[in-house]
Amino acid sequence: MIQVKNLWFKYENDFILKNVNLEIKENNFIAIIGANGSGKTTLAKHFNSLLTPTKGNIIIDGLNTKKNEVNARKKVGFVFQNFEDQIIHSIVEEDIAFGLENLGLSDNQASKIVRETLDKLRINHIAKSNVNMLSMGQKQLVALAGVLAMKPKYIVFDEPTTNLDVRNKSNILNVIKDLNKNEEITAILITNVLDDLMYAENAVVMKNGQIIFDDVKSKLNKKILKKAGLNG
Ligand SMILES: Nc1ncnc2c1ncn2[C@@H]1O[C@H](COP(=O)(O)OP(=O)(O)OP(=O)(O)O)[C@@H](O)[C@H]1O
Ligand SMILES: [Mg+2]
Repeated sequence: MIQVKNLWFKYENDFILKNVNLEIKENNFIAIIGANGSGKTTLAKHFNSLLTPTKGNIIIDGLNTKKNEVNARKKVGFVFQNFEDQIIHSIVEEDIAFGLENLGLSDNQASKIVRETLDKLRINHIAKSNVNMLSMGQKQLVALAGVLAMKPKYIVFDEPTTNLDVRNKSNILNVIKDLNKNEEITAILITNVLDDLMYAENAVVMKNGQIIFDDVKSKLNKKILKKAGLNG
């Protein structure tokens, strides 16, 4: 479980997150939705210790990110909005192996996990491809593969449908759903598009650095969406 406890955060003078409290349970598919600038990415960056609370605490399966930064981070993968920057090597399989080799795995161990990961995402056919030759949708899956290979329990997807065409949008949402259902990965989907909530079980709505709704998706209504500045 990810626990956000009385989280306050400021980059400079003003608090961007104001007393955020949240629990994300294992195996959940949760969407965090809010208008531009509402603090979604800032909140999610706390989940994998990219940011540390100014006040309050983040606890990942009992590990406080302030005290156990490295071990807490291992549990949470992050697919960034600008996922292209996450891809370091030009050949797909080398890129996916990179994090594993950094962990000290042998070539054999790493390539086994790379193959498994490519299978899970059904992208074996591009294993030897040059990343620069791939479509945006394929690049996104390569970035995800790099994250997935590290076997995180939780994965944050930061606005994964932005900049994709309709077909790739629905593909990535289905991939996220399958990882959640079949691989027991807790999916944390950040978005400002209502349609992206299709497969989410729970929804969290953010406005001006605060959570204004946190419940099962079915309870979300137009009044809340309007308050958050989203089109219901
Ligand atoms: N590195 C930074 N330094 C200073 N302020 C920042 C920084 N990153 C974000 N902010 C500010 O924090 C606020 C919340 O930004 P954040 O990126 O978390 O919002 P968001 O909900 O993810 O928005 P979007 O949907 O546009 O991605 C905004 O006012 C933003 O300008
Ligand atoms: Mg953002």
